Amino acid sequence: MTASAAPLRLGVLGLGSVFTGPYSNIIQQLTLEGRVRLTAVYDVEPGKTAAVAARFPGVATPSGPDELIDSGDVDVVLVLTSMNEHGPLATQARAAGKHVLVEKPMATSIAEADELLAVDAAHDGLLVCAPHVVLSPTYRRIHDAVGRGEIGRLVLARARYGWAGPWWGDWFYRAGGGALFDLGVYNLTTLCGLFGPVRRVAAMVGTAIPQRMSEGRLIDNTSDDNAHVLLDFGDQRFANVMTGFTIQKYRSPAVELYGTDGVLQMLGDDWAPEGFEQWRTEREVWEVHPETEPTWPWTSGLRHLVDCAETGRPTITRPEHARHALEVMLAARRSADEGRFVDVVSDFPALIYPDHVADDGHGRRKHDPRTS
Ligand SMILES: NC(=O)c1ccc[n+]([C@@H]2O[C@H](COP(=O)([O-])OP(=O)(O)OC[C@H]3O[C@@H](n4cnc5c(N)ncnc54)[C@H](O)[C@@H]3O)[C@@H](O)[C@H]2O)c1
Repeated sequence: MTASAAPLRLGVLGLGSVFTGPYSNIIQQLTLEGRVRLTAVYDVEPGKTAAVAARFPGVATPSGPDELIDSGDVDVVLVLTSMNEHGPLATQARAAGKHVLVEKPMATSIAEADELLAVDAAHDGLLVCAPHVVLSPTYRRIHDAVGRGEIGRLVLARARYGWAGPWWGDWFYRAGGGALFDLGVYNLTTLCGLFGPVRRVAAMVGTAIPQRMSEGRLIDNTSDDNAHVLLDFGDQRFANVMTGFTIQKYRSPAVELYGTDGVLQMLGDDWAPEGFEQWRTEREVWEVHPETEPTWPWTSGLRHLVDCAETGRPTITRPEHARHALEVMLAARRSADEGRFVDVVSDFPALIYPDHVADDGHGRRKHDPRTS
């Protein structure tokens, strides 16, 4: 990967809620820093494209995804569409040699995810897959603490993320949507980054609220909105993920990690952490670690992509990690349908943060929770 110096030119596919607020904010910040330029936008709803073009004077409005992806004035394609479009659009953009940021999940089927990975491997450029939870400063500190063995061997965990559910975008309640893909994916990415790959899954995944208000009218909900997923990481290490568009509010930690010598709890949500609390049995006291970057935005994968494109460094986040999370979610749905454990076979590389020592002299990565 060669480093780039000129501002990266961004093209965005999908101009809905995440573009309008969160991604626009980080694009504007990176623009002020002279590192990116928004050059092209497209949404299948012409009104959305026109509104964004009015807000960002000079931005091109190609006639469709093909024209945006093939544009010589686009270096990075952001795929911020509904989920069914993620895999095909990200694959097309990587095949055109563009850097790609794709929202979660990276695809809605294993076949699409595998095609994306194959095309990615065959072309120059970066692929950054949301969610970007492992990039947060708090996650890094937790990963480091667990990897150092501060709570002993990690053996058990509980994670939860949910809310009442979207009132926009009917697709959230159709095939290729659902709470597991939309919300559970955060917790799964978080836990797998700490435990390593899941080896088998048992789950209950259902539709608790069969009709929903969306875009101001009542629609049938034909996707999942309520899930409880049991994860077996092997070696008697277990976790569960509770997620749904069925959770009105909560005041408990997002993630609880239980080790043989202590406990670590992430406060807030894994996509918006608020620091962590740690109990070390030898110290017999709860230590509170306040959030160091309360304004860390969950869109930071874009900043990370720009950093890596500028420096030529590899990304910390790895597409294989996203692909594994997808396999786990599909296994969870299958487990729920068939009422049995479902094996998960894929692996993914351990997270390597540049400030971590690569090797402890015994062939083990220092600070890797998976090998501690
Ligand atoms: N809303 C959130 O809080 C949130 C947070 C994090 C991530 N995400 C993810 O971001 C993505 C978008 O979510 P959203 O809430 O913005 O949804 P949304 O429905 O508001 O926006 C999606 C947009 O994509 C457009 N679109 C669909 N097919 C397209 C195509 N082929 N080409 C171009 N545009 C197309 C739709 O017209 C729509 O405007 C989803 O994958 C979601 O999981 C959402």
